[in-house]
Amino acid sequence: MNAPVSIREVAAHAGVSVGTVSNVLNRPDIVAQSTRDRVHEAIKALGFVRNESARQLRAGRSRIIGLVVLDVANPFFTDVARGVEDEASRSGLAVILCNSDDQLPKETRYLELLEEHRVQGILITPVAGPDERLALLQRRGTPVVLLDSTSPSGGQCSVAVDDVLGGDVAMSHLLDGGHQRLAYIGGPLSIRQVADRRDGALRALARAGRDPAVLQMIETRALNVYAGQQAGMAIAALPPRRRPTGVFCANDLIALGLLQEMTRHRIGVPEDIAIVGYDDIDFAAAAAVPLSSVRQPRQQLGRTAARLLLEESLAAEDHTHRQVTFQPELEIRQSSRAGPGTW
Ligand code: RIB
Repeated sequence: MNAPVSIREVAAHAGVSVGTVSNVLNRPDIVAQSTRDRVHEAIKALGFVRNESARQLRAGRSRIIGLVVLDVANPFFTDVARGVEDEASRSGLAVILCNSDDQLPKETRYLELLEEHRVQGILITPVAGPDERLALLQRRGTPVVLLDSTSPSGGQCSVAVDDVLGGDVAMSHLLDGGHQRLAYIGGPLSIRQVADRRDGALRALARAGRDPAVLQMIETRALNVYAGQQAGMAIAALPPRRRPTGVFCANDLIALGLLQEMTRHRIGVPEDIAIVGYDDIDFAAAAAVPLSSVRQPRQQLGRTAARLLLEESLAAEDHTHRQVTFQPELEIRQSSRAGPGTW
């Protein structure tokens, strides 16, 4: 007795997404006739029979995806949200954007609210990593996909960038520029991404034969422009020969705050201090001194996570969790280019 043909097999045969097959079955009016024909041909060729009980189970769900992020004011997350919304709207779904402010109680309240609203599923950058609260949501029937986070247990699908490699690439660039006094600005270190980027930077130092203790750690209380300005004030207060000459910032908002403070103190970038950020948000290239940054494929992260969530919510019976990891790329711009005349 062969296993019943799955909706994912129909999608693959027709060359469309799982969400499109679902729309052909549930909302054919929003699908082009040619696509409908392809899907129906695939259904016929494979002998697909929809799982009516599974569909009814899900039928009670609202046509909404929940998206819970750490800081909605950070352009990284608004770019990610754009990718999520692109994918969700293709399947006729809306997105509720929730801002946890990196606070566990606020995040927990949003998770409860989204479950009460019977959302199709939840995409989340968790404050404290995957935990029992998320597992409970899944057991009670709400799919959860980790976004910009990893799932060590494999208990959820996850989509993230290799942040250790990202930190390694950023620090290697500063080392290649000949910098001796190096610093890492970021925090809180309880945020996995911040700790992984630091670990990557330490790995690059060790590979270069440098004592990791040379890395001056400036831990911040947040990942925003103000935190970067505060760190910049502390650096400017140091005697010039004790200031770092190469600084890797945990994200672009910190780097932009540092850049602003260096400019205010007439400390040259990159002449006196080279700066590298992370995320490559649009403001990085547009800064007064264009910012070098480790690029994250922000909209692609969002689209991929939404696609995984839709696959799981529409085909739970034969879904297997997947961990998708993207590779970071360093965009070198004026804020860290070595020597005059190279920009
Ligand atoms: O959420 C804080 C940071 O982690 C963002 O700037 C982005 O880099 C994310 O990965």
